[in-house]
Amino acid sequence: MKIKSFAPGKVILFGEHSVVHKKPAIAVAINRGVTTQLESREDNIVTISVPLINYSQQYELVNKKLLFELDSQNKMITDYIYEVIDLFEFETGFDLTVNIEMYLGAGLGSSAAVTVSCIKALSVFNHIEMDKKEIAKTARNIEIKIQGAASPIDTSMSTYGGIIYIDENFELERVNFDMDLPLIVSNCEISGNTGQLVESVRQTYVKYPEIVGNIFNAMQEIAKKAKSAFENGDSELIGDLMNLNQGLLDSIGVNTVELSDMVYLSRKYGAKGSKLTGSGGGGCIIAYCPENIEEIYEQLNKKYPTFKCEQSDNGVCAQVIEK
Ligand code: PMV
Repeated sequence: MKIKSFAPGKVILFGEHSVVHKKPAIAVAINRGVTTQLESREDNIVTISVPLINYSQQYELVNKKLLFELDSQNKMITDYIYEVIDLFEFETGFDLTVNIEMYLGAGLGSSAAVTVSCIKALSVFNHIEMDKKEIAKTARNIEIKIQGAASPIDTSMSTYGGIIYIDENFELERVNFDMDLPLIVSNCEISGNTGQLVESVRQTYVKYPEIVGNIFNAMQEIAKKAKSAFENGDSELIGDLMNLNQGLLDSIGVNTVELSDMVYLSRKYGAKGSKLTGSGGGGCIIAYCPENIEEIYEQLNKKYPTFKCEQSDNGVCAQVIEK
């Protein structure tokens, strides 16, 4: 039996940081993510490989389980794979290859995509039907177990796909839209520390409550307007709102020289809107490019690792290639 599953990554289009202060945000699942291939074996050997990080391991099943120990100090992307494997019992061995087709640790939800994609492949392999609600919940529990805390955004995006509006009460609502969303993601290859950045924004808020409070209010207006822009297919407005959001993120101190360089490069070559995505301090930008996407891609890719993507409407899926 051969199974192939895919789970999308995500970008935050609007509302990072202000969402921590109970303002709405919008996230988009992208058609770049994690593809998992599983091939059953006749023996009781399990192999696990993650080509992106040159990782490969081999185990023997003992009483239908895989025995492993995780290093609690040193968290790895492979921890998510082992936690998923631990959910199941196996009659035979298998070869599992996890292809991460995006950047790791760059705010694109790679750990959620790995977890969701592996849950899908292994549940199909074990003939266990899991609906999307169950997959999202199981994946989130694994993220909480490994990270200590996790918002439901990344695991929901990887599971359900689409565009999601996260409201003031952290309820997730699917945004209806009928338009293309050609995006470019560029990575400055410097990692921002989300915890530290969230804390520094909080301190700025404490220091200048009226000013930063109003910046968060403006971010709220942007996210709300962006929701209707999607619903009305108003691409001009989406671009403008991204640029406004970028200026506000800069004002609260999470922008960097490299992120600015990528933002302005993309605008110079025709992006309708561009901004940092996620916590900032490094990581990635997203550029909305309904026109000139090839040239914008080429220019950014000369200096920074870059890929083109679109929204992923359907979320996690699997295909049984051979029985
Ligand atoms: O970089 P990411 O995708 O983990 O996004 C962080 C977004 C913040 O708003 C900065 C933090 C959060 O928990 O929402």
